[in-house]
Amino acid sequence: MRVKVLEGVGAEVSQIDLNELADSEIDDVKTAFAEHGLLFFRDQDIDEQAHLRFSRIWGDINVNRFFDAHPEFPEIAVVSKEPDQTFNIGGDWHTDHSYDHRPALGSVLVSRQLPASGGDTWFTSMYKAYDGLSAGLQSFLESLRAVHSAKHVFGSRAPEARQEAIGDQFNNKSAADELEDPVHPVVIRHPLSGRKALFVNSGFTLRFEGWTEEESAPLLEMLYAAAIREPYITRFNWQPGSVVFWDNRATWHFAQNDYQGQRRVMHRTTIEGGPLEGVVGIH
Ligand code: SIN
Repeated sequence: MRVKVLEGVGAEVSQIDLNELADSEIDDVKTAFAEHGLLFFRDQDIDEQAHLRFSRIWGDINVNRFFDAHPEFPEIAVVSKEPDQTFNIGGDWHTDHSYDHRPALGSVLVSRQLPASGGDTWFTSMYKAYDGLSAGLQSFLESLRAVHSAKHVFGSRAPEARQEAIGDQFNNKSAADELEDPVHPVVIRHPLSGRKALFVNSGFTLRFEGWTEEESAPLLEMLYAAAIREPYITRFNWQPGSVVFWDNRATWHFAQNDYQGQRRVMHRTTIEGGPLEGVVGIH
């Protein structure tokens, strides 16, 4: 197995077959995942069973409540855009599942049908986002926690125009409305790497704990902008056989919506994570 570290975020892993992983290769993938938080694999010939097998190495699979499920493999969520749809899933910077009390460890995304061009996914590093802030701001942020929610994205709090564009691409609005919004530290000690990472989410963070949404917005916007500086970013061009495994606690991603009129189908599994620890008192 060969690991090539990329400039922005993540590493490309080659000379590996995800269908047949020896124990030593699993250990090497674990080490690379803990170190880079984002692994790109190319030229893999994996079917749904192999996708599930690879995903289960990392933990239990979280069955997505809002996306369509694969008709035969309900643990696989189908992330698709049809030629007549204008909205794409994941088309803004975000990380998945921060609206859960135990945010997901990560996701494994497999390309199944790609547009002739376009449909790249962009990733950024939340370690670099934290490291790039001044020491004064880092230390202030370490004392903060933030409230995350799915209601304004998947629930009935979603703006009407957005709901219209989404059409029937998201299911189960009432499940989103019923979720109790969790509070997470704004700076986490990453459970795998031990490094500090910025954990706010332009998709799902509502406000800082004890602050109003209005008071929170300027600082959140500043942090969102700080997270997507060019040197932190890797843009991934999907090909048949591409598989990406990302860590939701260490990265953000967004799916570029630049292939109108064409179909794009991806299969996603999401792996359960755990509660997140802050860093106060452990500098
Ligand atoms: C997602 O946000 O999970 C979708 C990413 C993609 O389709 O590239």
